[in-house]
Amino acid sequence: MNLYTREVITNDFMVEDVSGKAMSAKKVFSASIEFLKDHFLLNLKTRGLLGTLVVENDIGWVLTIPAIWSEPAKKFMRTCAVKAGLGKKPNIALEPEAASLFCQLAPFCSTPRDVRQNTCPGLKFMIVDIGGGTTDIVVQEKLLDGRLKDLNKPSGDQCGGTCVDKEFMNVISQMLGEDVMRKFERDYLQKYLELQRALEHVKKADPEKRIRMTIPFVAFDKICNEHCKKSFSDVLKQSKYKNTVTYVNNTDKVQFSKELFLSLFNSTTSRIVELISQNLENPECKELSMIFLVGGLSESIVVQNTIKKAFPDKKVIIIHDSITAVLRGAVIYGHNPNIIASRIVNHSYGISSKERFDPSKHQESRAVTVDGVKRCRDTFHSLISANTPVVVGEKRSHTFHTIEPFQDIATFRLFSSPHENPVYIDDKDCRHCADLKIDIQSPSKDRIDIEVDFQFGLTELAVTAKQKGTENKSNVPIKYK
Ligand SMILES: Nc1ncnc2c1ncn2[C@@H]1O[C@H](COP(=O)(O)OP(=O)(O)OP(=O)(O)O)[C@@H](O)[C@H]1O
Ligand SMILES: [Mg+2]
Repeated sequence: MNLYTREVITNDFMVEDVSGKAMSAKKVFSASIEFLKDHFLLNLKTRGLLGTLVVENDIGWVLTIPAIWSEPAKKFMRTCAVKAGLGKKPNIALEPEAASLFCQLAPFCSTPRDVRQNTCPGLKFMIVDIGGGTTDIVVQEKLLDGRLKDLNKPSGDQCGGTCVDKEFMNVISQMLGEDVMRKFERDYLQKYLELQRALEHVKKADPEKRIRMTIPFVAFDKICNEHCKKSFSDVLKQSKYKNTVTYVNNTDKVQFSKELFLSLFNSTTSRIVELISQNLENPECKELSMIFLVGGLSESIVVQNTIKKAFPDKKVIIIHDSITAVLRGAVIYGHNPNIIASRIVNHSYGISSKERFDPSKHQESRAVTVDGVKRCRDTFHSLISANTPVVVGEKRSHTFHTIEPFQDIATFRLFSSPHENPVYIDDKDCRHCADLKIDIQSPSKDRIDIEVDFQFGLTELAVTAKQKGTENKSNVPIKYK
């Protein structure tokens, strides 16, 4: 989540563990990826497959990332993957897209006939990936050639399983009292982690059945006695939850009322329903008939029922074992990344320019005169507008030029905005998002024109440049701000 919420991701970006101890995020992420890689290789080795049927160099790694992440967050993950040894250019798959690929093949209906019908060309559907941190949504249409076209830009928010966890923790914290809870977290870390694991279990409960949660009873009782001079059971009986949470005598369990249990999902499910509704507002989605739910929290009966009730005219489909849909879809993507035909650009991208002054559009205070021509400073020269559909890898080109004789490096500022038509580079929400540094291969005393191609619709923004009149194209490193 830290990566989702941060606009700026620097090399020294730190993350904290439960006790507040900080460590370099790059180290944590790359070590985690490396662990998974090594675990997989060890598994192949143990089975006698490595070096026999599987050659390590033939393995293509696919890194999945939520579609709503920013370009800097994607680049950060790529850097970590490279550091972890996944090769120089691991494939990046966007998670709800990967899940979509798996949903095309998953036997989500009982008869083979239904499977064929549900994945026919022309079908429009939504994939809602409800994970731990985020809910991530794509809306797609299946094309005649079987490839997939995005109809909306990826959207989503921080409304996954951990939001429900927070609500449960809140109940426990209010039950014990915030001070006692803080002491519990600090002095009984192991028990606190056990409590988190118990949450994983209670979240899966069927609200129509008994809803019980295991608690670290001995530790709770001890800490209540120490700090409140009362037993845990008495503390609970005097709390605001006395009618909705009951201690099950002689066990290490508490029982939740159905009403309280359902209410703990409310804020998360309302936000998910809101996100789905917003996606359906697009006129292109009028005939959308299916909503696939994937990701861990989509296994929750509460979540499933809420979404089904909110969209009675849609088929809401929860494929079997939906928690692994992204993983398995990523494997399909790795074999055929061209399966995504087009995407919607989610930001406008542009560069700073001095457009010819237009009194109907520009502010007089920004007027400047350049070579006798009235111009407007700091205008946003758009390379592409947010919400534009692009085929994967579609190019937008711009010619830059050197400003000094024998200049060997040219640096340009790239700006982005979530809005479709920014006018100035300092408009609201407009950001200087990256610097592009281009090495001039043959510096000269004359002005050199540099043709720069910006490729949109890939899983990440890509930029290449070449000096006009030459054929040598080079990748331009993007330094995100
Ligand atoms: N049967 C279930 N009922 C309710 N919640 C569940 C169930 N199974 C898993 N979860 C919850 O799903 C979440 C994990 O889902 P998932 O593995 O899809 O997340 P993730 O991919 O790691 O997160 P993100 O997509 O946000 O990066 C956890 O919060 C977990 O508690
Ligand atoms: Mg996920």
